[in-house]
Amino acid sequence: MKDTTRVIRAGAEERPLARTVNPPIQRASTVLLPDAASLYDSSQVLYGRDSLAVRSALCDAIAELEGGVGAKLFPSGLAAMTGVLLALLKAGDEMLVCQHVYRPTRKFCDGVLKRFGVKTTYYPQTMPAAGLMAMVTDRTRVIVVESPGSLSFEMQDVAAIASGARERGVLTVMDNTWGAGLLFKPIAHGVDISVQALTKYMGGHSDVFMGSAAARDAAMLKLLDAAMHDIGWSVSPEDAYLMLRGLRTLPTRLKRHGDSGLEVALWLSQQPEVREVIHPALPGARGHELWARDYTGACGLFAFVFRPAPEAAVNAFLDALDLFGLGFSWGGHESLAISCDPQRRTGADLEDYGGPLMRLHVGLEDPGDLIEDLKRGLAAFNAARG
Ligand SMILES: Cc1ncc(COP(=O)(O)O)c(C=O)c1O
Repeated sequence: MKDTTRVIRAGAEERPLARTVNPPIQRASTVLLPDAASLYDSSQVLYGRDSLAVRSALCDAIAELEGGVGAKLFPSGLAAMTGVLLALLKAGDEMLVCQHVYRPTRKFCDGVLKRFGVKTTYYPQTMPAAGLMAMVTDRTRVIVVESPGSLSFEMQDVAAIASGARERGVLTVMDNTWGAGLLFKPIAHGVDISVQALTKYMGGHSDVFMGSAAARDAAMLKLLDAAMHDIGWSVSPEDAYLMLRGLRTLPTRLKRHGDSGLEVALWLSQQPEVREVIHPALPGARGHELWARDYTGACGLFAFVFRPAPEAAVNAFLDALDLFGLGFSWGGHESLAISCDPQRRTGADLEDYGGPLMRLHVGLEDPGDLIEDLKRGLAAFNAARG
């Protein structure tokens, strides 16, 4: 062999891998098949866009946690939700979507799906299941639930909606990002497909995007598989590796987020500047009964309502914070805050909470330090309110 051939073949022979705690990161577009008959054998992995080592390990782990027959990975949480909807819907179908759904999901329904002939009708998250079932038509194919809502934390009776939908032959899809695959089990409550933005708690460090969809039965999984395959999504093995690593510490982190979040929420509920704390796990808060019935814990994301104040006072609160970063995500180790009203005004959410709405993500810092930070924020809020 000449050197030009040698550089391609040298060191390329197959060798057994040492057994490590975590699966190997397999980087590949090309998969080498053992013989000619395998080339068109669709029971084998034929191409790197299909699942390789670390990705299939992550799919299996998510399916097991979600109690589904299988799970698929998508490049982001939004891609998981839009991918599931593309897998299930066709022109002429109708869909019922909760009013406070994650805003970009709503944009997808009103844009792409509308363009493709799918009609979306929004229902209030607090609507009882019986009322929602009355909205089902003979064209309704899917009901989307998100509980709690990720901005204003409305709780839904997921089991009642899923069983009503099943009776009518309608599929249910839940955005379960708040529950993180641990605190709430949509499939055990009758949901057909449970979607998560793994970007949040499973990733846990604000540095990687991914979404998952876990399917209740083989027929659902087949639909997801076909959509993934036809549209051509894939996730990188490094990102899947980071997710699998995050999963190992998820319960420990989530417990700490939940405990600290409740401590901060309780403190906020006692402050004169605060009109209401909207945290489903806080006794007395709206939605608490459903949370107590269905959930085994809380994450660190919740909202509170200021007493009426101008936007300048809300912004002064945010600008005085030091430990809370100002940013649009959640689920990472760090605390974050956003004002909600500017984005609520641009949408159809006209609900009046009686004052400005603020969302907090409580991270893994010491909750006492976070409360000191919030005190600084409230002092600035009071100064600006006059
Ligand atoms: C409830 C909810 N679902 C889905 C997403 C989308 O996740 P990603 O940012 O990975 O696309 C988000 C992101 O903020 C979210 O809050």
